[in-house]
Amino acid sequence: LKLGVLISGRGSNLQALIDACAAPGFPASVALVLSNRADAAGLERAGAAGIATAVVSHRDHAGKQAFEEAMSAALEAAGVELVCLAGFMRLLSPWFVERWRDRLINIHPSLLPAFPGLDTHARALEAGVRFHGCTVHLVRQDMDAGPILVQAAVPVRPDDTEESLADRVLEQEHRCYPLAVRLLAEGRARVVGERVLLDADMT
Ligand code: GRF
Repeated sequence: LKLGVLISGRGSNLQALIDACAAPGFPASVALVLSNRADAAGLERAGAAGIATAVVSHRDHAGKQAFEEAMSAALEAAGVELVCLAGFMRLLSPWFVERWRDRLINIHPSLLPAFPGLDTHARALEAGVRFHGCTVHLVRQDMDAGPILVQAAVPVRPDDTEESLADRVLEQEHRCYPLAVRLLAEGRARVVGERVLLDADMT
């Protein structure tokens, strides 16, 4: 399965996908890394791995539609079959979401539907939840919503700071994203309407 990974920054989830794809027998490869920022550190990770990169900046396009058409064209030209959002910080329009419907996934640092949006770790601490985590989901028009593929929970410890909690969650993100890609690539996860059916549900 050919992946297109969309980033805006650090790219540690991109790195986890690159590493997973390098393992023998992994059923996917990264065909293109696309960033909306030329200074995204993740672009260097892609370069170091010999993966094609593209920068498509919203600033170079007259309006959201033109920006997203340029992204879509780059993804199509690279033969991308599944688009993975990995710290991509621009909201995508309904046009893009529908264009890639069921072929567009995101990783979010909370146990959705809890804490959509930004600052999830601070908000989890503030709410006093005992468990927090991450979610890989299919993208729908509402932000941080859509059929859930994979989740992992971590305990929240009494002495946690935003940083310590974020680190614990990030470790799980790096496990969950490759797993979600593998499940889709191997046909072990199937999108049926607004739910994802996993292997065991398919009998
Ligand atoms: C991750 O926490 C991801 O869940 C969120 O943005 C962060 C991106 O980190 N959507 P990185 O760029 O993958 O290191």
